[in-house]
Amino acid sequence: MAGEGFYNEHSRPQHVAGEEGIPLLVRAAESIQLDPSRGVVVADYGASQGRNSLDPMRALIRTLRGRLAPGTPISIVHTDLPTNDFAALFTTLETDPQSYLRAGTDVFAYAAGRSFYEQIFPPAHISIGWTSITVHWLSSVPVPIRYHIFSTLADPVERSAYAARAAADWRQFLVHRARELTAGGRLVVVGSGADDHGRSGAEHLMDLANGVLAEMVAEDSLRPEEYQRMVLPMYYRTQDEFTEALQDRSLSGSLALEECSETALSDPLWARYQASGDAAEYAASAAEFLRAFSEPSLFGFLAAERSEAEVSRLADEFYARVRSAIERRPQDAQCAWRLVLLSLAKRG
Ligand SMILES: C[S@@+](CC[C@H](N)C(=O)[O-])C[C@H]1O[C@@H](n2cnc3c(N)ncnc32)[C@H](O)[C@@H]1O
Repeated sequence: MAGEGFYNEHSRPQHVAGEEGIPLLVRAAESIQLDPSRGVVVADYGASQGRNSLDPMRALIRTLRGRLAPGTPISIVHTDLPTNDFAALFTTLETDPQSYLRAGTDVFAYAAGRSFYEQIFPPAHISIGWTSITVHWLSSVPVPIRYHIFSTLADPVERSAYAARAAADWRQFLVHRARELTAGGRLVVVGSGADDHGRSGAEHLMDLANGVLAEMVAEDSLRPEEYQRMVLPMYYRTQDEFTEALQDRSLSGSLALEECSETALSDPLWARYQASGDAAEYAASAAEFLRAFSEPSLFGFLAAERSEAEVSRLADEFYARVRSAIERRPQDAQCAWRLVLLSLAKRG
């Protein structure tokens, strides 16, 4: 994600997605087995800069507090990749008026910088795991995409490589979480979903962005080999793709599917534009939303001889051109996201 708190400021759609998962999280906190006087450890997998975790964690703490003896510690560990902007996360936890650290005592916040495709915690350590809008990010780029940056718009052979990697990654993710959860613990997943054709709902926006990159290549501001390396290592799963891993014998013995549903997510940026009619403001917010999650993947691998300043200038130019294109064609940036909501219980 774009650093220095930029993701926190421009991730309203992800925030709205996370809100959809809060009822599942509260039900998980109501149903886990607790020793009322023993501390509880919660993991927030893929927390980024933390702002979108505040509401879910506050709701979770409120529910747990009602079940725990006064003074029982609740520890929350926010995990992400080692490259994450953890400074922005801890600043948010200390200063944001909505921070759960301000809502009560005996709550302790920590971080772990390790991929969630690896084991992060000791066995049977986590009572509740939460992850929102994270697992569509793959462990690495399976294959380059020749004519696009987005796997749902790749050719069928390329796309099947993404599907295979996504299946393997999801399985790994679950294997590690099953190990980390305490018996009876819960894992709540807010997943980015796909329709039956594998479409995420953001294809028009991604086409628009890809078109701007193609223009920059045609004008020689970007080199063709740089464009070739520009890809978002993401895959959007259907509900079946989320659940079929759980039928695998090795996982079905340790994780039980408690809840599973699909929902459409309204696009909060588009809704604000509908209310205001301000195309310039809409274009700026949609371009910043795109930049907040895509910049490191698109501009992190330009030619080695390019200076940092040159890379920043090219990224600025790209997102400014995306903004102008959205202002001319606002409907192309409207997203029809889908979510798959899952709650899993550790058997035992
Ligand atoms: C779209 S952000 C979502 C952040 C936050 N959960 C939210 O709701 O806004 C995706 C996050 O997942 C993280 N992520 C992607 N792949 C990861 C991995 N393999 N291990 C840990 N975190 C990962 C990214 O670094 C990023 O912070």
